[in-house]
Amino acid sequence: MNPRYLSKRVVALKPSGIRKFFDIVATMDDVISLGIGEPDFITPDPILQAGIHSLQKGDTHYTSNAGRLDLRQSVAEHLYGLYGVRYDPECEIIITVGVSEALYLAMTALLEPGEEIIIPTPCFVSYQAEAILAGGTPIELPTFVKDGFQLRPQAVEDAITPRTKAILIAYPNNPTGAVASRQTLLDLAQIAEEHDLIVISDELYDQLVYGVQHVCFSSLPNMCERTILLGGFSKNYAMTGWRIGFAAAPAGLLKGLLRIHQYTIMSAPTTAQAAAVEALKNGKRHVEAMRVEYDRRRKLIVNGLNQLGMTTIEPHGAFYAFPSIIATGMDDETFAQKLLDEERVAVVPGSSFGAGGAGFVRCSYATAYEKIEEALQRMEKFMRRYG
Ligand SMILES: Cc1ncc(COP(=O)(O)O)c(C=O)c1O
Repeated sequence: MNPRYLSKRVVALKPSGIRKFFDIVATMDDVISLGIGEPDFITPDPILQAGIHSLQKGDTHYTSNAGRLDLRQSVAEHLYGLYGVRYDPECEIIITVGVSEALYLAMTALLEPGEEIIIPTPCFVSYQAEAILAGGTPIELPTFVKDGFQLRPQAVEDAITPRTKAILIAYPNNPTGAVASRQTLLDLAQIAEEHDLIVISDELYDQLVYGVQHVCFSSLPNMCERTILLGGFSKNYAMTGWRIGFAAAPAGLLKGLLRIHQYTIMSAPTTAQAAAVEALKNGKRHVEAMRVEYDRRRKLIVNGLNQLGMTTIEPHGAFYAFPSIIATGMDDETFAQKLLDEERVAVVPGSSFGAGGAGFVRCSYATAYEKIEEALQRMEKFMRRYG
């Protein structure tokens, strides 16, 4: 098809660096992939069975646009139980096709053409594209390893212009594994209030933290009223393929998201909603078992990478290590390509995640312990040649 028919918005989108790389990986044998951003675990069995059961009993129809009320009630109870935040399941929660859809809804509902959204980077690859698709302007704000990839409040202040509508934060962070401190979030809350900004808070990995506490942004004083909280099931419950998540926000805002969802999606997958009800009801111990295993792998990979001279700050959340490859003198794309070609280990170049990611690579430890051991051995050979 002739690209001249495509809208300028779409033509302007850069293809995802990750996809390009993994299309190559898929054609190669004997690769150990530390590149995939999803749990290697299969969805815990009771959750799986709930989905199967829902199909078997003929639950193959649409649900209400906002999602099953009992699921919205469970999400509300879950958020209240974990963080003490109150959302009305009738009008302040919507069930979405993953956080991916929720991001699209939030950006489209908020941004007028030319309005800016501040996006700290390195970050999940979709944020900038979603802002552009929504007609807005993403403003990248790099974070730095010397700050443990925490946001600097002053840098946020400096990035604000009369066109700034919102800021998007994502902790625990993909790709750095950083978890924001309460103080950083309180400083950000003050800035949001002073400049009347909406905060989109992507908390998809909230239950995957190690030795620290996750702070839910909307639980901070006065923040519920200006936060669109995004959460989901993909990572915590190993449910990426089910495509299910949620957004929670004050009714006036949520109404906007719901309107777009209603016309574009109709309702999130019914089977996945049944599974998600079970996940919230009985999933806790399964999440904990997976979290404990991730933690064991986290220690292995972080120690291993540091010993190889790939300096890695301790990631306190999600399932990613983000080592520096500066010792090799290569840029991150060359490093990833050579490591793949010569040792058959796949990692993701840090620059795919935006400004601040250059000079790093993302290594996922949502990969079996033994595979991580083997990957480290292969990387040791590589670093002996180039480190
Ligand atoms: C930070 C972050 N947000 C959102 C997503 C999308 O998740 P979902 O599967 O819920 O659409 C991902 C997936 O990797 C992610 O890492």
